[in-house]
Amino acid sequence: MSKIGIFYGPELGSVEKVARLMETKIGADKVELIPVKNSDEKALEQFDKLIFGMSTIGKTNWDSEYKDTDWDVFATLFNKVNWAGKKVAMYCLGDHIQYPQHFVDALGWVYERLEKTEAEVVGFCTTEGYVYEESEGIRNGQFLGLPIDEDNESDKTEIRVENWINRLFNEFGF
Ligand SMILES: Cc1cc2nc3c(=O)[nH]c(=O)nc-3n(C[C@H](O)[C@H](O)[C@H](O)COP(=O)(O)O)c2cc1C
Repeated sequence: MSKIGIFYGPELGSVEKVARLMETKIGADKVELIPVKNSDEKALEQFDKLIFGMSTIGKTNWDSEYKDTDWDVFATLFNKVNWAGKKVAMYCLGDHIQYPQHFVDALGWVYERLEKTEAEVVGFCTTEGYVYEESEGIRNGQFLGLPIDEDNESDKTEIRVENWINRLFNEFGF
């Protein structure tokens, strides 16, 4: 079985914590954890099954004009990759209490860039069980990936990750 590449950023906070939890749940021998900072298109090309982990830190930080997030820079490499046959699932950290009108918006930001490629995005999630007002991370009534709120609902993280990983095994075609 080919390995799953978990590309995540930023490092050292909740995004990394969840990346490590996923590594444990999937099996350390089956995944490779790669911080997107200082990574490149060659690293992406090694994998057919990818998980992208990100956080939402407000619109100004994600606008292309402000190239100061790990993902802002990494996403500029997307057009250099041959995405044919690649499947990408996303998870996104957010805070539904402080930012109810922008909950996990970054899912939408990354999705818009993946949409322009041949990548197949998998791992959509029901909005059931989440409280929020608005999110750019939703299409056709579903989150575009797995929302995680470590700031307010860390007790739900493990079961959310477990359920999502179990579904991913099917969607990744194991
Ligand atoms: C300046 C700032 C802006 C944020 N903006 C949003 C936001 O718009 N939507 C959201 O859901 N969460 C937002 N958050 C919450 C973060 O996404 C959340 O705390 C996340 O767990 C941070 O991940 P990290 O520890 O890996 O950096 C924001 C946090 C900060 C500090």
